[in-house]
Amino acid sequence: MSLSARKLKHINVCLEYPVQFSTKTTGFESLPWAYRALPELRLEDVQLETRFLGKTLKAPLLIGAMTGGADLAGTINKNLAIAAQALGLGLMLGSQRVMLEHESARASFSVRQYAPDVLLIGNLGVAQFKKGYDHNQAKKAIELIGADAIAFHTNPLQEALQIGGDTDFMGLIPILKQIVPKVQYPVMLKEVGHGLSGSVAKAVQNVGFAALDVAGAGGTSWAKVEDFAHHGKLLYPDLCEIGIPTLTALEQCHASLPTMPLMASGGIRSGLDIAKALTKGATVCATAMPLLEPATKSPEAVIEVLERMIYELRVALFVAGIPSVQPQLMQNA
Ligand SMILES: Cc1cc2nc3c(=O)[nH]c(=O)nc-3n(C[C@H](O)[C@H](O)[C@H](O)COP(=O)(O)O)c2cc1C
Repeated sequence: MSLSARKLKHINVCLEYPVQFSTKTTGFESLPWAYRALPELRLEDVQLETRFLGKTLKAPLLIGAMTGGADLAGTINKNLAIAAQALGLGLMLGSQRVMLEHESARASFSVRQYAPDVLLIGNLGVAQFKKGYDHNQAKKAIELIGADAIAFHTNPLQEALQIGGDTDFMGLIPILKQIVPKVQYPVMLKEVGHGLSGSVAKAVQNVGFAALDVAGAGGTSWAKVEDFAHHGKLLYPDLCEIGIPTLTALEQCHASLPTMPLMASGGIRSGLDIAKALTKGATVCATAMPLLEPATKSPEAVIEVLERMIYELRVALFVAGIPSVQPQLMQNA
């Protein structure tokens, strides 16, 4: 199957099959949230603005890395980009390997024209760095789309369940240590929904990553996406539930690397999830799956979902008496 066809298949599987974890949750639901009946605040004065990777976001939220390559992916990316620009949020794109290998796929990633001001983050899989990619491909991926930064995704479980997946992860940390400083743009490390542990965070401490996206379990299971994509059913249901819940991944990574900027993602579904993640060490959050179906329709449909999450975040802070999302205030909340 060509790379573009596989991307389209992933989108269709995500739209049509139950690919969320079924036995595992993020953990945020069991974290209590403070309530202060006299908050000494005005709702509209709650400050949501923050900075991440050198850019200002109007709220601590990014559109998670999804797609690119197929025609439908181009429509999705355009709608996501227009929404990110309208709301002043960040936008992460899906893996750009397809556009590096096929010039015809580039247009679907070219979203700068729709989102001139947003924090735009490109994407490549770490497994490619065992197959001949180096900093030149990473720089090219960033510069071809005018991105501000790039995320490298690490996804051993997904690759193991993908027929013909790239399953050689041997010796990647020293390779990344060579490559990351030469990219000359901020590089993040992310999982795809099965989570970065505290020991992985520690292991990449000196690689030069500008931030980590814990991308934990409790939302979309990429193992399930691959399993459904190949077999139309779950052949490996137990494997599909492997992963570190997002809250646990976040707490572990923050404990391992207290000064590393962290993104919380994987099952972020409400503004209250975002508020809770910020109290546990996240600087920003990202959400992917809830935006996929709206992005097939229009920018307005994407904006509606994101505005609801941002309003929930504002109300959560208001009723807890927290005036701003600044990390010092959130982490002492
Ligand atoms: C349709 C779709 C495509 C995705 N493609 C990529 C990708 O190319 N690169 C990547 O790093 N993550 C990719 N992801 C994973 C997401 O960025 C995210 O880590 C994961 O879906 C968990 O977040 P969620 O529970 O909010 O969906 C994709 C997710 C979706 C839904």
